[in-house]
Amino acid sequence: MQTATPIIERSPAAMQRMADAWRSAGKQIAFVPTMGALHAGHTTLMRTARHEADVLVASVFVNPTQFGKGEDFDKYPRALDRDVQRAGEAGVDVIFAPEAAAMYPAGYATYVDVEGIATVLEGAARPGHFRGVATVVTKLLNIVKPHVVYFGQKDAQQVAVISRMMSDLHFDTKLIIVPTVRETDGLAMSSRNAYLTEQQRSEAPVLYRALQLGERRLREHTLDPAAVLHEMRALITTSSSGVIEYISIADAETLQELHEPVADRPVLVSLAVRFGTTRLIDNILIPGSRT
Ligand code: PAJ
Repeated sequence: MQTATPIIERSPAAMQRMADAWRSAGKQIAFVPTMGALHAGHTTLMRTARHEADVLVASVFVNPTQFGKGEDFDKYPRALDRDVQRAGEAGVDVIFAPEAAAMYPAGYATYVDVEGIATVLEGAARPGHFRGVATVVTKLLNIVKPHVVYFGQKDAQQVAVISRMMSDLHFDTKLIIVPTVRETDGLAMSSRNAYLTEQQRSEAPVLYRALQLGERRLREHTLDPAAVLHEMRALITTSSSGVIEYISIADAETLQELHEPVADRPVLVSLAVRFGTTRLIDNILIPGSRT
């Protein structure tokens, strides 16, 4: 089933009925959760998901519970008409776009908290963020009932948290991770890039250059992580106005910081940097090897 213009479904109950009907008909349901303001990162997830699916659902929902006080919930870009068009071009059949009141009605009281990996890095910088993400993803999986769900490596810790949660709570859905999609100058695509001034936009690719520098140094297995972090910090601060919130070199599974060079397990190098009021995150995953 592939339509040029996706159906827009706003009701959780109607979405569940649609999913039940597909499942009864033996259809394979693939799902891409988003907050809208779709760019090529999102549509790459959708095009990838399209291959495996009989029916492809994307959600567009700016989830209030994952934004902290003073964050950009109110100004987060919302453009459903354009999103519908882009999702249609990427092969999406149904867009689930609920109202906040349908997802969190009066009296709503249930949240999903992932411990450990959700408390460091983004979790430390944005208290409550992953509680909101884990809660809404649980709800979306219960509503859309997909066989396969797609997430981007761009949000590496989100992937780690959701993967932990899906395993801990026995979700009967397969999780697929799609590599980060970048602009030609290396900047990771993000809906928040639209907030950058021209000057900030021209400086922002330094984040990926710093991650690549870190990757090169770590692959040499000679320098301590602390020395690598020092070089990465120096690159960002000397060539941009970016203010570093954190740079991390961590075990990719536990997200615990590394203090010695390692060659035998995957390492996640990640960072959060502010350009003015705009907060950007990016990461590189270095697969473990002894070669
Ligand atoms: P959002 O930021 O809209 O991202 C939706 C999905 O697109 C996520 O899986 C994210 O990792 C992926 N994505 C974003 N930019 C990408 C890029 N440059 N390359 C590859 N994938 C990219 O992440 C969320 O929404 C929310 O937290 C959500 C999971 C929908 C829960 O509200």
